Amino acid sequence: VDEREAMTRALDLAWRGWGRVHPNPLVGAVVLAGGHPVGEGWHAELGDRHAETVALAAAGERARGATMVVTLEPCAHAGRQPPCTEALIRAGVRRVVAALSDPNPVAAGGAARLSDAGIEVEVGLLADAAAAQNAVFLHRMRDRTRPFVALKLATTMDAKISDANGNSRWISGEVARDYVHWLRAGFDAIAVGGVTARTDDPELTVRGDLRPRVAPVRVVFASDADLPTSLTLVRTAAEVPTVAVVGELASARLVESLEASGVEVERVGDLRTALAKLRARGIDSLLVEGGGRLAGALLADGLVDRYYWVQSPLWVGAGGTPAMAGLPSVHLANAGRWTVVERRALGQDTLLVLDRS
Ligand SMILES: NC(=O)c1ccc[n+]([C@@H]2O[C@H](COP(=O)([O-])OP(=O)(O)OC[C@H]3O[C@@H](n4cnc5c(N)ncnc54)[C@H](OP(=O)(O)O)[C@@H]3O)[C@@H](O)[C@H]2O)c1
Repeated sequence: VDEREAMTRALDLAWRGWGRVHPNPLVGAVVLAGGHPVGEGWHAELGDRHAETVALAAAGERARGATMVVTLEPCAHAGRQPPCTEALIRAGVRRVVAALSDPNPVAAGGAARLSDAGIEVEVGLLADAAAAQNAVFLHRMRDRTRPFVALKLATTMDAKISDANGNSRWISGEVARDYVHWLRAGFDAIAVGGVTARTDDPELTVRGDLRPRVAPVRVVFASDADLPTSLTLVRTAAEVPTVAVVGELASARLVESLEASGVEVERVGDLRTALAKLRARGIDSLLVEGGGRLAGALLADGLVDRYYWVQSPLWVGAGGTPAMAGLPSVHLANAGRWTVVERRALGQDTLLVLDRS
């Protein structure tokens, strides 16, 4: 096993913290001795041991003179856990290979501390993959104005998200739907547009195998605040925190009715302000699950960081809801090309994960 293969393994291990460690980063680690993995670990629970400490414990004495391969620069500060740098020095590790520098000013400085202690340090192996994995964490450190915004849509071959009658259940298959429940578990909030809330009456809860540490908040963008109290989102607002983002002209009577049901209401003039309000509520990541008009409005304003695109092998033809409505016309030469972060099969569907470049 070379260092690159060990880093790939460390990235795989890091995913095991999805839904459990945020706002901390996902971190995985592998201890390599003489080309053999002798210990592995991952950050499994917020406040619990860091990946490096778990991997060192698994390696025991074999860590002496070994290489620590880890997806994030080891931390140099005492937070809920003691600094990993000191554990690495004590264990007698000879070399540390990290994918990413720690952008957190509080925890950074690990590489320098290790070098000072005579440990060889290299940062940057599979950095792009590690950055994509920790996109929410990196965004949180760099941009304090709005959450990381991911769009998720299941579309037909002809780029529709419902048929002419508004039916969208189900475009994607079961494997893709299970994946979406896993995906939801790692976000602070799940959002839909007003039409989707009224047409599909979704629950927007996590109902897969992975239990999120904190259940995501639900957000509905409904300019006119027209969300009947019979909707599941409104009916269950006392159990699952639910925020309605409404326009400045929304009727006071409808707003009062929502508030009486336990829905928290944000009255805003535009999407950027709406996102700023959500961030101020502590929402660092938002998964927007449609519909097409909300998707188009966010894209047009440059407010989408990532697109989880589930492509399904069927078409519904004229009258279906377009996946992205209202986008302005862009000259091909100026159209920004997104970066493919992941592509894989989900049963008969295909997942394509794209990041805005
Ligand atoms: N396949 C999928 O992945 C998927 C996902 C979601 C939905 N769907 C389907 O998509 C259909 C609904 O999509 P849709 O495009 O008609 O509607 P939509 O995007 O769900 O909702 C549009 C509504 O969002 C609200 N909104 C608030 N701020 C906005 C802004 N700045 N810009 C634009 N809209 C804003 C408005 O609510 P008000 O009307 O209250 O003013 C607007 O009418 C349904 O048939 C649903 O089944 C499919």
